[in-house]
Amino acid sequence: MATESFELKVLDVIEETADARSVVFEIPADAREAFDYQPGQFLTLAIPSDQTGVAARCYSLSSTPGDDALKVTVKRTSDGYASNWICDNVRAGDTLRVLPPSGIFTPASLDADLLLFAGGSGITPIMSITKAALARGTGRVVLVYANRDEQSVIFAAELRALAEQYGERLVVIHWLESVQGLPAPDQMRGIAAHFPTYDAFVCGPPAFMKCVVGVLKGLEFPRERRHQEKFVSLAGNPFGDVEEAAVAEAEVFEAEHEPEDAAQEPAAAGDPTPQGAVRVEIELDGTTYEYDDWPATKPLLDHLLKKGVPAPFSCREGNCSACAFRLLEGEVKMEHNDILDEDDLADGIRLGCQAYPVTDVVKGTYS
Ligand SMILES: Cc1cc2nc3c(=O)[nH]c(=O)nc-3n(C[C@H](O)[C@H](O)[C@H](O)COP(=O)(O)OP(=O)(O)OC[C@H]3O[C@@H](n4cnc5c(N)ncnc54)[C@H](O)[C@@H]3O)c2cc1C
Ligand code: FES
Repeated sequence: MATESFELKVLDVIEETADARSVVFEIPADAREAFDYQPGQFLTLAIPSDQTGVAARCYSLSSTPGDDALKVTVKRTSDGYASNWICDNVRAGDTLRVLPPSGIFTPASLDADLLLFAGGSGITPIMSITKAALARGTGRVVLVYANRDEQSVIFAAELRALAEQYGERLVVIHWLESVQGLPAPDQMRGIAAHFPTYDAFVCGPPAFMKCVVGVLKGLEFPRERRHQEKFVSLAGNPFGDVEEAAVAEAEVFEAEHEPEDAAQEPAAAGDPTPQGAVRVEIELDGTTYEYDDWPATKPLLDHLLKKGVPAPFSCREGNCSACAFRLLEGEVKMEHNDILDEDDLADGIRLGCQAYPVTDVVKGTYS
């Protein structure tokens, strides 16, 4: 199941730049299926900590499906804990505890024309998408890649080689702050305006993403052709036997909320929370799961896990988007959301780990 963690062997550590390392993992022979992934997805790593036991951090895969090994690329964060720990401590032969791939920052079709914007370490998922699209797709790829200076360009040689190999299908536009200054909206618009029909993917520092996403919105790229991945640190720990934890929480909930309690509870004015159990229909990997007993005070994810549904998740805190699904009918309220923007919400995207029902019937899909 997608929720189990695995000990992965480190095959190699590659110094990409002065402050970025790639960690190459062996694909576990007994869990090849669990580690199947889409380009643009991420792994969640358990970084040992003498303060908290584990610091969980997500790292996008810079390898691409079909590669012999899994590779993540980690850039040091100033005063950061996990990124510096990885860069300073991880060696070939070590093992790290890892959650299988998650995430929705993936192209719907590798044959689409792609307009990719990466800033600094944001190149990681973009690299995976670029390689997949070139090797397995038929479209054109335009990559705009912003960095502080030439020395901080991760994958410079690999990109040069790809540009040579794929000729006109790949255009790489390097943007160096040391030469051109910080990327400004007018400049990004000048590039993006040439590719109004392409599928856009954006990943990088917050200011870069805000600039580019604003430009794409201004150029009326529709929501389904405008994707962004935000790099944030998880505050909690999604490791451990989370499914059992979910079941245990659900049991505590049920013990505390006997049906008659729920029926007696008066509805607060303006509180849309349904008073009884809710009907949920959710589609995942071609199967539709239907239940009539979703308790209104339980997040959707916990209810599905309790039912044995292999619903995807990572952080369970509303800040990674691994659990995102699309509402087809009804409504939910989210307790916490660090990751979905207004357009995602308008598009019906919700976070399963934060979703509580506000209607008596909720239908959705993870597709
Ligand atoms: C989907 C996704 C994909 C990502 N992909 C990438 C990627 O490809 N490459 C990349 O470089 N980054 C990526 N990130 C960002 C990455 O997950 C981290 O946020 C980043 O590396 C910074 O983490 P950090 O611990 O170094 O820094 P911070 O999170 O800033 O470190 C400080 C935090 O660590 C805590 N802390 C300090 N000391 C300890 C200790 N001893 N034990 C426990 N906690 C401590 C502090 O309380 C503070 O909260 C991604 C994030 C997401 C969500
Ligand atoms: S599991 Fe990370 S946002 Fe829901």
